[in-house]
Amino acid sequence: MKGVPLTEALYQYLCEFGGAEDSFLQQLRQQSIELGMPQIHISPEQLACIQFLLTVIDARQVVEIGSLAGYSTLGMLRVLPEDGVLYAFEKNPDYAAYIRKKAEEMGAAARLELVVGDAHQQLRAFRFTQPIDFAFLDADKPGYRDYWELLDPVVRVGGIIAADNALMGGKILDEQSTDPDVYAMQEFNRFVQQHSRYRSCIVPVGDGMIVAVKLQ
Ligand SMILES: C[S@@+](CC[C@H](N)C(=O)[O-])C[C@H]1O[C@@H](n2cnc3c(N)ncnc32)[C@H](O)[C@@H]1O
Repeated sequence: MKGVPLTEALYQYLCEFGGAEDSFLQQLRQQSIELGMPQIHISPEQLACIQFLLTVIDARQVVEIGSLAGYSTLGMLRVLPEDGVLYAFEKNPDYAAYIRKKAEEMGAAARLELVVGDAHQQLRAFRFTQPIDFAFLDADKPGYRDYWELLDPVVRVGGIIAADNALMGGKILDEQSTDPDVYAMQEFNRFVQQHSRYRSCIVPVGDGMIVAVKLQ
């Protein structure tokens, strides 16, 4: 095996040294535990990677599919310029209300457009006013391909589509899996990696993030 196996101590180093969890996000995470929200948000070093990508491509128009308590949403808003906008698609109205409140607390509400409801339906009806620089998929796995097809036409050349859970907690290796989420992710990873108009790789942060840059 090439590379360094990730021990708990090394992982702590990645989060503490290279993570992007500031005190606001730490508090949000703590509060979301107290509110009984599922703890399935992205990891601190993954957020650092996303923030890095947003900065490298000078992202101003960002889409997120699946926002939960807003850990990734607010983390992305942290590095979005004043004239940027983040369209967050979230089906759960309670989660959306919580995110709106936290964005107001952070002073970022003006850069956040929350779209509440099923993202498949909402995206079909939605008209973006400008090309999208960065799209982050983190909702229903069997829906990733549909999200891709809906977002591909609006992502600019040089823009990025990233999707969480590329490794599915290690289950991605199980070709006999009957879990529809695992199967969907295996198919999605294959689809993205073979795509002629995108160059992609899987970044081993969090549960694995497949990242694809649009070439044409
Ligand atoms: C893994 S969580 C998102 C975590 C979030 N990105 C973070 O890292 O903080 C998945 C979210 O997707 C939402 N979701 C699932 N299916 C959806 C759909 N069809 N449309 C919109 N949101 C959906 C769920 O309600 C949940 O909040």
